[in-house]
Amino acid sequence: MTELTVQDLHVTLGKNHILKGVSMEIKRGEIVALLGPSGSGKTTLLRSIAGLELPTQGMIRISDQVVYDSADKIEVPVERRSLGFVFQSYALWPHRTVFENVAYGLKLRKVPKEEIRERVQEVLKNLGLGDLGDRFPHQLSGGQQQRVALARSLVYKPQVILLDEPLSNLDAKLREEARIWLRQLIIDLNLSAVCVTHDQAEAMAMADKIVLLKDGMIEQAGTPQQMYGAPDSLFVAEFMGANNTINGLVTDVDGDSASVKGEGWSLRGRLRAPLKAGDRTTAIVRLEKIKLAQTPKENSLRLPLTASLYLGNAWEYVFDLSGTTIRGYGNDFMPPGEQLVDIPAEHLWLF
Ligand SMILES: Nc1ncnc2c1ncn2[C@@H]1O[C@H](COP(=O)(O)OP(=O)(O)O)[C@@H](O)[C@H]1O
Ligand SMILES: [Mg+2]
Repeated sequence: MTELTVQDLHVTLGKNHILKGVSMEIKRGEIVALLGPSGSGKTTLLRSIAGLELPTQGMIRISDQVVYDSADKIEVPVERRSLGFVFQSYALWPHRTVFENVAYGLKLRKVPKEEIRERVQEVLKNLGLGDLGDRFPHQLSGGQQQRVALARSLVYKPQVILLDEPLSNLDAKLREEARIWLRQLIIDLNLSAVCVTHDQAEAMAMADKIVLLKDGMIEQAGTPQQMYGAPDSLFVAEFMGANNTINGLVTDVDGDSASVKGEGWSLRGRLRAPLKAGDRTTAIVRLEKIKLAQTPKENSLRLPLTASLYLGNAWEYVFDLSGTTIRGYGNDFMPPGEQLVDIPAEHLWLF
């Protein structure tokens, strides 16, 4: 069942056309990561779904309730949309306890006291905060404060939860742990979630589906595997991973495969854009696809290795391809000098 539908949404803020026709769908139980560079419209899309921005055109439906429709002039106010929202810059009330922070919204809605107590305790327990109800925010770690902010929005028992960079206040290590429990929590509570992030690794780890925004439009949407392994455009390829970028000239095309050459080198690659012989191309290959070869293969090159960098879990090799830096990984230190480098044709994407 579809829990959230956005159709051809346009939003103008001030004089700026920010969202230019965004359409997306979320099924029940699905976690969607809204990914994109800063300024691409992620927060604007989330705020429009929540009812905090008024679009100029399009339709938004939450479960079976149309909450916005420009054609039918429907605009359901924020408080009547069944949503939880965790803002990027969440703030807990410093002089209220954890319990009071979470209970506050229910009190405003005049929920009976006993029910408030039960609901707050339940959500605190779900979030692993069961014993911390009496503490004040300054007595909590950053990660615990983040959970309280989440508890505050979950206490309304929303079907859909909107999270705007929910982990951005945490340091890198905590963030990696938090994305695991946050994903599990959303699954356990059978919620649907839209989670904004600008971090592609976080998006891939957390989400069932990724929607990548660029300049207020969806550049590509798909599973993490599709987005990482089969990007439709150079923008998506570059955004989703760590890459080598090689500029060259297409010399011949055979089906979806083509030859590309540069100064003193020639490689086979896969077409990911409609190129023809004579076109300039930007070739992309993920760092982890570059391997040292023992014997020459179809797509191996002899390249000078200029540095080996120790990363702890691997070595990073730096090669020079006629002035272009090529990086790859391996298990052992390699001294500077010529190496045979394999660049598998199926992983060299030509845009
Ligand atoms: N209130 C506003 N008035 C005018 N422009 C705005 C307003 N809020 C955001 N913008 C602009 O809208 C664009 C998208 O912003 P935002 O949705 O916050 O992007 P993101 O969350 O992806 O970083 C940006 O160019 C931003 O400057
Ligand atoms: Mg934002």
